[in-house]
Amino acid sequence: MSELRTRDVVESDLPAVLAIRSRSFGPLGVGGEDWWRRVSAETLGGRMIAVVDGSDTVLGAGRIRPYEQAWGGRHLRMGGVAGVYVEPSARGRGVATTLTRALVARMAELGDVVSCLFPTTATLYRRSGYEIGGTQTRTTYAAHVLRDLGSAGAGHATGKRPERPRTATTGDAQQMHDLAREAHARHASSGPMVPSVAAFRGMLERDEVIAYVLGDGFVVYGLSDDAVTVEHLVAATPESATTLWGLVGSGSSAAPTVHTYLDPRDPVTLAIGGLAANEVQQVPWMARVVDLEAAVSGRSFATHTSVEASLVVDDPDVPANSGHWTVGVTGGRGTATRTDDASTPRAGSGGAAASTARREPLRVDARGLSALWCGWSVSRLRQAGLATGGDADGDAALDAVFASTPYITEYF
Ligand SMILES: CC(C)(COP(=O)(O)OP(=O)(O)OC[C@H]1O[C@@H](n2cnc3c(N)ncnc32)[C@H](O)[C@@H]1OP(=O)(O)O)[C@@H](O)C(=O)NCCC(=O)NCCS
Repeated sequence: MSELRTRDVVESDLPAVLAIRSRSFGPLGVGGEDWWRRVSAETLGGRMIAVVDGSDTVLGAGRIRPYEQAWGGRHLRMGGVAGVYVEPSARGRGVATTLTRALVARMAELGDVVSCLFPTTATLYRRSGYEIGGTQTRTTYAAHVLRDLGSAGAGHATGKRPERPRTATTGDAQQMHDLAREAHARHASSGPMVPSVAAFRGMLERDEVIAYVLGDGFVVYGLSDDAVTVEHLVAATPESATTLWGLVGSGSSAAPTVHTYLDPRDPVTLAIGGLAANEVQQVPWMARVVDLEAAVSGRSFATHTSVEASLVVDDPDVPANSGHWTVGVTGGRGTATRTDDASTPRAGSGGAAASTARREPLRVDARGLSALWCGWSVSRLRQAGLATGGDADGDAALDAVFASTPYITEYF
């Protein structure tokens, strides 16, 4: 184990990294080579890390995709960890654990304040301070229900002719990005990522998707196996929503099923005449707070919440997160302020046993902090063994600060 070290992946390592990927997930599928070139170009030079042995042979690798993610409707830099795989003959001796810790340290250096990933095993990532943050949800509708919504909306109460959607071109990428950002702010969303302008332009350029725009909305979807799959649908007004949903459902004769990867609370649920299908697919994702101070000051909170809460964090992998903190929220904005010089965690942490006369605030490790950030209530953290100390009043204050039900719509 001692011979393991981490270093940046360089161009000449890519064949070795791809070989390990193939031994982990099988060969790249159709279009896979383009995808591999794209994600490699995006992450080479600091965002792709390898674990090597004493002779510099690559044993495993992982990458950090540069994303923006909404929290309370404001966007934070989020490192999307993906492409973690270890050479089969080197498994079971801590290669992935070494790698994950290095990825977290690198995100802290790069200024990614939170991180998310889609795990195949939770245990590995829990060791590095990740916890289950939420799910990516696929909701399914009968296409005719959406078509009916569109027909009912045509003409609408205003009597105005609804705007006709037009096919999106690469020139619409900026507007699509801006509209997605505005929608996250409008709904104070937590969890969804906003594709960059380049990402929107790329998907339109490569003709990967079907996309239409309106003045204040757009839709991006795919079509295969008699089903439409909606990846993005943004609408600022009820008229635009009914127009775009009606367009999605308009092919019900040929594609009777519509899957959506959207906010599980997308307002379409409140507008349609039918119900979503019973079968919902959910894929769990995990999150980690990489920089507590920047994460709290960068996101938004409920505008009418005014509260202060205390917290002790033990995060040996990111010492800058460790210590006593006061998290204050007012007017929709928050601060995390160090309240003493406790950046070095006490040995044998366990706040409940604190012998000091002062009451010990709630104490969490990195996993507990990540779960709290993702809206798990303190009572749930306690039951899972992820929080100690504190009292009922402090618990309620922390619950008020972090209340949210985050969701991610995009798999990476
Ligand atoms: C998962 C994987 C990255 C682990 O690599 P590794 O170097 O063997 O991991 P480590 O030795 O650091 O083990 C860390 C922990 O991960 C968990 N883990 C590892 N392999 C696992 C498996 N197949 N199933 C469930 N948990 C597993 C274990 O809890 C392990 O700790 P333990 O051995 O003390 O119980 C490796 O098996 C792999 O490449 N698998 C195929 C690709 C993959 O699933 N990648 C993860 C994408 S999110």
